[in-house]
Amino acid sequence: MSDQTNLNGKVVLVTGAGGGIGRGIAMEAARAGASVVVNDLGASLDGRRETSAAADTVVAEIEAAGGRAVANGDSVAEPDGAKAMVRQATDAFGRLDAVINNAGILRDTFFHKMTWEDFDAVVKVHLYGAFNTSRAAADIFRDQGSGSLIHMTSTSGLVGNLAQANYSAAKMGITALSKSIALDLARWNVRSNCIAPFAWSRMTANIKVDSPEQEERVNRMKEMIPEKIAPLTLFLASDDAADVTGQIFAVRNNEIFLMSQSRPVRSVHRGGDGWDITSIRDGAIPALRRSFVPLEVSADVFAWDPV
Ligand code: NAI
Repeated sequence: MSDQTNLNGKVVLVTGAGGGIGRGIAMEAARAGASVVVNDLGASLDGRRETSAAADTVVAEIEAAGGRAVANGDSVAEPDGAKAMVRQATDAFGRLDAVINNAGILRDTFFHKMTWEDFDAVVKVHLYGAFNTSRAAADIFRDQGSGSLIHMTSTSGLVGNLAQANYSAAKMGITALSKSIALDLARWNVRSNCIAPFAWSRMTANIKVDSPEQEERVNRMKEMIPEKIAPLTLFLASDDAADVTGQIFAVRNNEIFLMSQSRPVRSVHRGGDGWDITSIRDGAIPALRRSFVPLEVSADVFAWDPV
């Protein structure tokens, strides 16, 4: 990647930056001139174990490359943990300009087998995690009169995917959280956007392969390196994105997408007393059916090979 200095003087907190996409963003943020808080508690993929010193390793890599970074090992799922990582940014570097909500876990299982614990754990890290860090940063952003939040969502939520009800619900919830923050904090120049990334990481390495077609798809996914998510993320963190807020993007290798957001697509009206069950069956649904959204998964919509 070319040498860029778009983030000179900025302070960026990247959650879950001990590996995968977050690590790529943290490394590139430092290269672009930012001071970085590298958060990661070293969780296993399902969030059941917290072991490694992943954040320390990334900090050492950033420092070896001449950048500035500090490690944080708190959990985004805990409000106090989120407050501590935000405080660490201001303690170490004097300010905070952007929070990248990237930390995540998976507990994939079909809905009829999903336990309350599976649902709770995933929503806690993704949706509550995004709330916790954003809420902690909001106080600083308002005082400063500026700030950028970037949340990793997923086409599993935006489009659909099998065996991910917990994850999809959390990721779709994050888009609504982001929109609400964008609306509420616009008057303080605080922006909030989402990115649905596609990248080969341990999260996607977890995908179950039980057919030659799926194996071929997974082989194509291996070409999508996590570092490709960093440029758009860091553009959104920069002052050049001052007028970009409330949007949902997707990044897949060298492709960048602007995703749609829900709006009415077709309406029907009935005069007199309005609709009853039978007239809905005979009139409304036949008219609306032409615009029904098919029951698709992400791979049906992103059906071509990554560029
Ligand atoms: P990853 O599993 O490599 O990285 C996630 C990191 O979050 C891990 O290092 C983990 O230790 C950390 N983490 C987990 N729970 C935490 C907690 N409570 N507090 C702090 N850190 C915690 O996964 P990857 O692929 O890099 O994913 C990054 C983000 O992108 C996630 O939000 C994921 O849902 C999203 N995403 C990734 C896609 C992909 O294709 N890789 C697709 C769609 C979304």
